[in-house]
Parts: sequence; structure tokens; C-alpha cells
Amino acid sequence: MRIIAFAMVCLLAVSCSNKYKDIANSEQDYQIIPKPVSIETSKGRFLVSPNIKITGDAKLENEGTYLTEMLNHVANTNATFETGMIGDIRLKIDDTIDNDEGYALVVTYKGIVISGKTAKGVFYGIQTLRQLMPASIESGDNEIEELTIPSVMIKDNPRYVYRGMHLDVARHFFPVSFVKKYIDLIALHKMNTFHWHLTEDQGWRIEIKKYPKLTEIGSKRYGTIIDHHPGTGNDEKEYGEFYTQEEVKDIVKYATERHVTVIPEIELPGHSGAAIAAYPYLSCFPEEPTIITKDMGSQKGKGIQAAGTPKIVQETWGVFDDVYCAGDEKTFAFLQNVLDEVIPLFPAKYIHIGGDECPKANWERCPKCQTRIKNEGLHDEHELQSYFIQRIEKYLNSKGKSIIGWDEILEGGLAPNATVMSWRGTKGGIEAAKQHHNVMMTPGHSCYFDHYQVKDEEAKTKEPLAIGGNTTVSDVYAYEPTPEELTEEEAKYILGAQGNVWTEYMKTTDYVEYMILPRMTALSEVVWTPKESRNWEDFYTRLQYISNRFDAMELNYAKHSIENK
Ligand code: ACM
Ligand code: ZN
Repeated sequence: MRIIAFAMVCLLAVSCSNKYKDIANSEQDYQIIPKPVSIETSKGRFLVSPNIKITGDAKLENEGTYLTEMLNHVANTNATFETGMIGDIRLKIDDTIDNDEGYALVVTYKGIVISGKTAKGVFYGIQTLRQLMPASIESGDNEIEELTIPSVMIKDNPRYVYRGMHLDVARHFFPVSFVKKYIDLIALHKMNTFHWHLTEDQGWRIEIKKYPKLTEIGSKRYGTIIDHHPGTGNDEKEYGEFYTQEEVKDIVKYATERHVTVIPEIELPGHSGAAIAAYPYLSCFPEEPTIITKDMGSQKGKGIQAAGTPKIVQETWGVFDDVYCAGDEKTFAFLQNVLDEVIPLFPAKYIHIGGDECPKANWERCPKCQTRIKNEGLHDEHELQSYFIQRIEKYLNSKGKSIIGWDEILEGGLAPNATVMSWRGTKGGIEAAKQHHNVMMTPGHSCYFDHYQVKDEEAKTKEPLAIGGNTTVSDVYAYEPTPEELTEEEAKYILGAQGNVWTEYMKTTDYVEYMILPRMTALSEVVWTPKESRNWEDFYTRLQYISNRFDAMELNYAKHSIENK
């Protein structure tokens, strides 16, 4: 009896799936960003049936669960991921795939197989599968009765190993829920790195247990300038929050499940005003009050009183002279202790140590810094900066970590194992690659998503306030991360590119969404798709489809960047 019942179920399933065998699919069914390396479409569709079985290698539990939850959320299914290889959707590790992040996806009316060299590849196969399903799956508020997926054979892998998005949470703070949403967007775009800018002049945002004042004092400012720098006044409102170490762990775990590496940035030696407000001994001149400009709320003394020191957490934007003292051993003890708490929170190989925009004015007049220059046989303050970075690098290397720094770390001599993030154009990246150092490209003209996203001056006035400049979605799409100036051998040092999101003018999560979408969508194709397959017209068509997905997710993307070329 049981055998007959089983046979009937099988027959029913076959006749059900046969119904989808010959269905013709259209172009519209295959609108994937970033564009895969190879895609062969065919007729027929796979039906996600209520009794669907999702199975795979035991090592793919995380990916299987992710996919199962995605389907259960939108389709009429209540599946669980099972270890094994008999199923309607099968996930597997395939050593014959060359690229560590590569995958193959085969969809027929009978079933789906996603293979990856690693779990990461399988995860990207799942992201592609996601884009083969209707955009409405993203909202998840209505169950799709008959969810079907078009037949296809895709072979795919990324062009670059580093595909990053940065977020400055110091100028403005964003809650854990938004950071997770940001990580989800990174994963949707098959990008793989979240660069988390955690410390600044205007706020220290990560709990360090040994130095509680970093968050008690350093995470709060007592005002923010109004309008564009230098501002039309100051709101004189207390502003500031921080992430506890438990929250950091939770975010890193969430990212790891989505194959996104989190790289923390602990800025030094410049942009260190919040730490100095908390611990003035870190400054060359602990007794000297922070210079109060006319648009800072603390001109009324509020910030200074709250901090109880002559130093304040900055209330305006810019670059400030009060930086970590490079001559005092106490600075290095402090930074090493901070890093000792940061290191265990982040499994990433890299820690970003900043290194940008460090004025040398205080070092020039600081007796301790001058003594350091003399004793170490350094020529000038640029070499002192290099000494600073090299000491930190040595410390982090001894703990098994590597450093990334902004391209200023080239000045005065590059630390031996440092990776360079080229932001002041591409020059720094080219120079570092020629010196055989790894490079991530983040040049302002193409990768700064704090710029306006229109060129026309009149149109700019209709956009929310931005820092300036203009970087349209097509500018981003046209960007080529590997500079022509490099030989084939040197080009290997270009690991990839990243979109930077500095948040001086982005006060809300909606605002951040507006600034990154669709520019990160364009960047995702730049860093994933083979150069010869990139085509703006084709991308622009696919952008219309992915924007339906953004609508379903209720994202506040820049619609005008999609509607007007
Ligand atoms: C930077 O934009 N200051 C790295
Ligand atoms: Zn000093």
C-alpha cells in the first residue's frame, strides 16, 4: 500500500513538473546583476512545489538554511535543509571549479543544482537564483502560489577578489539593524567586504572595555553643524551612540553567514579627535583646548563642560591638527591595547588603520615628536608618520593581522607588508602596485558615493545635500579598476575596488540608501563581470529590473539615476 502511495506521489510530482517542461522563457526572465560570465537559457521552468526537498553537502548547512528560509518566506513551502544528495534543489561542493568564489547553477524543470568550489561560491549561486525569481519575493508579504524559476545553465566567477563597500558610522551613527541591511545589500550584489569606519574626530563608535571614556565621552558630540561646511550654525544637540562588543560580534556573525568579511577601521594617527577628547594625554598638547570655530555648539562651553577636559569631540567637519602624539610611548600603549580588544572581534585578515589626512603642524612644534624624529634618524614629519604606521603594522603583523591604509601611507615610505587603498585618484594605487604592494581602488571620481549623482548644477539642487562633486551611476559603471599604466605582472596587485560612503551629510538610513543605490549596483558589475562583457546599455536595462527588487524591499534608491540616463 505504501509503495503504491509513494508511486502516486511521484507520478503526481512528475506530471506537475512536466506541465512546466516546455514553457518558453523570455529575456525578462534573466536579468541578473552583476552579469554572469556565461549564461545559456532554455525552455522550461522549475516549480517550487509545497513539498520541495532541499539537500546538499553537510558543509553547506549555512547556505542550505539561507536558501530554505528564503523560499519558505515567499513560497508555499515549509522545507528544511537536509544533508544528502537526493532532492529537488541540491547544493554541492565541486573541486573542479577553478575560482574559490566561482559557481555553476543549473535549473531545469526537473530540479536545480548549485555547485561551488567553496561554500562562498554556492552562496553566490543562491544569489543568482534569487534574481531568477520574481522581484515580489523580496517583499515577502504575499506568498507566491506557483513560484517557478526559468531553466538556465550559468557558469560564473568574479573578476576581482576584493569587492567592497565602506560605511562611515562615525559622522553619523547607524543602528545594528541597518548595518545588517547594508550587509544584505552587499551580499545581494555578490560583493564580499564591509569596511566599517568606526572612529573619527566626531565620534568613537566601538566599545573598548579598557578605555570606557572612549564611548562615555568619545561617542558623544554636543552639536552638529547645520547645512554644508562651514555651515550656517550648529544644532547644539547631543548626538552619539556606539556599538557594544556584543553587537559587533553579532554583526560579524551575520556578515560571515553571508560571506561578507568585515574590516574594521581604527583611524590613526589623524582623525583622532574623539579619542583625544576622552583621553587628552594622547595629544601632543593635552592642555591646549580644542579650537572652537564659530559654527560649533561648544562655543557656548557645553561640550567642554560635558567632557570635563579642554578637548571636545568635533562638532564640525574637516581635518584637524590635534592628532595622536607620535613621540609619546603612551600613545602606542593605548593603541596596542585598543587593537588587542579589536583583533578578537574580527576574524578578517586585515585591520584598516586609516593613515589619511594627518596634519603635521602639531608634530612640528611638539618636543616629544621632534625627539622621536632625531632619535630614529628620520628626516621629517612624513617619515614620522611612516614610523607611526610601521610600528602599528609590526604590532598587528605579530598578532597575525595585516594592515590596510589610505594612500597617504605611501608618504615617507610604505610599511613593508601594507595594502594601500587609493582614494586621491589612482596615483597612489599605481605607485603601490609598482612597489609590489596589494591595492584596493577607491578613487574619488568613481567610487565616492557621498558625491551628488547628477552633473547638472540645477539638478543638483533637487538632490539632498551632498559633500560636493558628482559621480553618476554611468561614471561608476565606466570605471576600470586596473590602470593602463601597470604591466600585467603589476596589475596582479590590484585586488579590486570599493565604494566609499562618508556620512557627514547622511543623517538617516534612507539617505544612505539613496546615496548607494544604484551606484553600488554599477560597482558590483565593475568588480565581478569580465571587462569585455561590460556594456552600459545592457546594464541599464537590467538596472530597471533590479529596481523592482529595490521597490519590493522598500529601499529609498535614487530613482532619477535609473529613470534618466
Ligand atoms: C578619505 O576620504 N579621507 C580617505
Ligand atoms: Zn607629539
